[in-house]
Amino acid sequence: MKVTVVGAGAVGASCAEYIAIKDFASEVVLLDIKEGYAEGKAMDLMQCASLNHFDTKITGTTNDYSKTADSDIAVITSGIPRKPGMTREELIGINAGIVKTVAENLIKHSPNVILIVVSNPMDTMAYLAHKVTGIPKNRIIGMGGALDSGRFKYRLAEALEAPISDVDGMVIGGHSDKGMVPLISHATRNSVKVSEFLSEEKLNWVVEETKLGGATLTKLLGTSAWYAPGAAVSALVQAIACDQKKMFPCSALLEGEYGLNDLCIGVPVILGKNGIERIVEIELNEAEKAKLTESAAGVQKTNGLLEA
Ligand code: 2OP
Repeated sequence: MKVTVVGAGAVGASCAEYIAIKDFASEVVLLDIKEGYAEGKAMDLMQCASLNHFDTKITGTTNDYSKTADSDIAVITSGIPRKPGMTREELIGINAGIVKTVAENLIKHSPNVILIVVSNPMDTMAYLAHKVTGIPKNRIIGMGGALDSGRFKYRLAEALEAPISDVDGMVIGGHSDKGMVPLISHATRNSVKVSEFLSEEKLNWVVEETKLGGATLTKLLGTSAWYAPGAAVSALVQAIACDQKKMFPCSALLEGEYGLNDLCIGVPVILGKNGIERIVEIELNEAEKAKLTESAAGVQKTNGLLEA
């Protein structure tokens, strides 16, 4: 199993590290445009192998896509991250050009690759990847919902004063401060609805903190987060590499599901060896349906900037 990670910045390197530590891939190639940077990160990570007990071979390359040839999975993290006060949507001008070039180069050397798009604005970048590569829709996955759900569960556990392992929940919709739809109606503490434990006020706090999860960290760190994004990507890569048939909310190209068409947005999907093996349509209440529709309108608006 060969995995390429494009972009050896904080998210890309963190993602390579988690993949290696989980020890399911034979090879991880890190690629970056900055001279020697991916090679350096790969060497540093390989010096952890004996300490962290993994056999995954990590190599780095400065923009040489021939080294990524025949990858089974490729993760696109390249582009600029947001700075405090910026929205993910504001990154489109620079990142669209980068993601287009990266996706084209990846497909040229690995025609059967499954792409996981992380660069922001992520839903629009996943849509762009569809447009420029034309590969089947099961092979393009946008990473947002898995990360947002991790942040949702963190805040739920905090509000419930419960261990995170007691909590389950999912965030669908666009990967943006306004567009995320944390599904309170489906969130549980050991199978009991969280609304049995938390007041409406507390639940609203959980929803708002979840939606602002990335922005809060950007403010604290001066750049966007990397540990949770890296962990979320590695979970998706593992589900595909090990054909786990696990369900995650991911950005997928919709063709009528949830009444939406011609956009990528976060919905529950089953991930296995073929990438997105199924889009799962779950029952949403009226408020959640309205929020998803509104979120989709936001994503469509950002997609519209691609043609401009
Ligand atoms: C985040 O929310 C990187 O978009 C990513 O932290």
